[in-house]
This record gives sequence, structure tokens and C-alpha cells, in this order.
Amino acid sequence: MRIFVLTGAGVSAESGLGTFRDKAGTGIWARFDPMKLATPEAFAADPDTVQAFYNARRRNLVEAEPNAAHAALARLEREFAAHGGRLVLVTQNIDDLHERAGSSDVIHMHGELLKSRCTRCGTVAPERGDLGPHSVCLACGEIGTLRPHVVWFGEMPLEMERIEDELLRADLFVAIGTSGSVYPAAGYVSLARDAGIATCEINLEPSDNAFLFDERRYGPASEAVPAFVDEILRRA
Ligand code: NAD
Ligand code: APR
Repeated sequence: MRIFVLTGAGVSAESGLGTFRDKAGTGIWARFDPMKLATPEAFAADPDTVQAFYNARRRNLVEAEPNAAHAALARLEREFAAHGGRLVLVTQNIDDLHERAGSSDVIHMHGELLKSRCTRCGTVAPERGDLGPHSVCLACGEIGTLRPHVVWFGEMPLEMERIEDELLRADLFVAIGTSGSVYPAAGYVSLARDAGIATCEINLEPSDNAFLFDERRYGPASEAVPAFVDEILRRA
């Protein structure tokens, strides 16, 4: 069985990392203007403010721990690897909690908070500390040219061709903890349906595109995802 899993901020919510939007209106973008913090124009206009926003999230991330949802997806990958089957894990999240729970080959379509990218030479490198005007690119030696290796509004997501190729080869598409409000990720369920692939949404509450899913399961990811994985492994 080939399962394509797309995760969003909701899978990391119980690890203490904030989501961007939710029906209660308590998400990050309800408190901060994404146009001032998550666009290339914002970075060009006020790099210190954008760097400070991501430096604070990077420090939070170092303190966070994976939760049972991350662990269940890592277990599914291990079981499939041992007994046949394939799990492709694509995340919109910029945290490393899937990796820290044991998932391998995670596709980060919005980049990774624990990596920097040099705006001069393009080098992407691991980054656990704060970025700012004094940061030095170890590849080209330039000072002050490092930005978060994160995809902002208006920028192209990463690995789109590979993602769509893997999606069209799946037997089941599962979206976990995403509001279905940002493209192209929000369009993957339609791509799957048009290709005759079964679809399932696992979320705290119905997403913006919940009506497009064949199956819908609601509840905290730390409970709903382990239950889903147990069921898949029983059926496998
Ligand atoms: P989009 O499809 O991601 O979002 C639609 C538009 O909504 C954005 O262009 C933005 O201008 C507008 N918008 C304004 N206020 C908003 C809010 N509070 N919440 C959400 N959207 C708001 O836009 P896009 O420019 O096509 O995005 C391109 C890619 O960048 C997408 O893959 C997107 O997911 C990604 N992205 C990443 C981040 C990040 O922090 N990693 C942030 C935003 C977008
Ligand atoms: N368990 C499951 N789902 C949850 C939980 C939880 N404990 N807590 C919240 N959720 C759900 C919310 O109900 C919401 O539908 O997770 C979803 C999170 O949606 P968003 O905050 O919009 O996050 P996401 O869909 O990942 O956003 C997509 O937008 O700003 C950009 O690049 C950013 O990657 C992000 C993209």
C-alpha cells in the first residue's frame, strides 16, 4: 500500500508550536501580519523584524518535543519498510519534529527553520542559533546575507514536481492538521480525487476543503493519528 501523508501546523500544535489559523482565531496570523513577517518584501524592507520573528520561533522549536502523532507516523514508516508498503511524508511545517520522532526523508515544502540560506551564494546550511546582520555565510564568507531557509508568501514551494509525482502514485492521500487554506498544498486533495485516489482528512475541526475528502476524522492529532496508524497496520 502506498500512502501519501501531508501534514500542517496542527500536527505540531500539541508540541507547543502555534498554528497559523484556526476557527477560534487564535493562530499566529491572527496576532501577526504575515505580509510584514512572511514575504520577501517584508524581509527586504525590515530584515531585523523578520529575523527576530524566526529567531524566536527557532528558539521555541529547540525547546519543543515531538508528540504521539509524530511518533505514530514514524512507526508507520518503519512498519511499511519492514513489511512492504511505502509512506511518503510531505510537511508544510518548518519544524524538525517529524525527524526527531524518527521519520526519514521528510519533504519540507515550505523549507526548514533549522536551516539558513545565503542570499548571495544560495548555500543552505544547518542553523540552530539566531540569524542577523552579523551572521556569516561559511560557504562564501559574506556577512549579513543569511535568511531563514523558509518559503514565504509569494515564493515557490520546494520540491513541487517530486511531491506531485509521489502523490499521483499513492493509493491513499491523508491530510493531517492543515486548514487547507494555502496553495498548492490545499489543492492536493483535488489532485488525488481527480486521479481516483482515496482521501482522508485528520484534523481538530473541519478544514476549508473538508467537503472534498472521502473520509474525515476529527480530534487532537496526538489521539487521532495513532488510532489511524493502528487501523492501517491492522488492515495491512
Ligand atoms: P498563499 O496561497 O500561500 O496565500 C494566499 C495569499 O493570502 C498570500 O499570497 C497572502 O498574500 C494572503 N494572505 C494575507 N493575509 C493572510 C493570512 N492572514 N493568512 C494567509 N494568507 C494571507 O500565497 P502564495 O504567495 O501563493 O504562497 C506561496 C507559497 O508560500 C505557498 O506554498 C505557501 O504555503 C508558502 N508560504 C509559506 C509561509 C511560511 O511561513 N513558511 C508563509 C506563507 C506562505
Ligand atoms: N490536532 C489536529 N489538528 C489541529 C490541532 C491538533 N491538536 N490543533 C489545531 N489543529 C488544526 C486547526 O484546526 C487547523 O485546521 O490544524 C490546522 C492548522 O492550520 P494552519 O494553522 O492554517 O496551518 P497550515 O495548514 O499548516 O498552514 C499552511 O500557511 O502560513 C502558511 O507556511 C504557512 O505552512 C503554513 C501554511
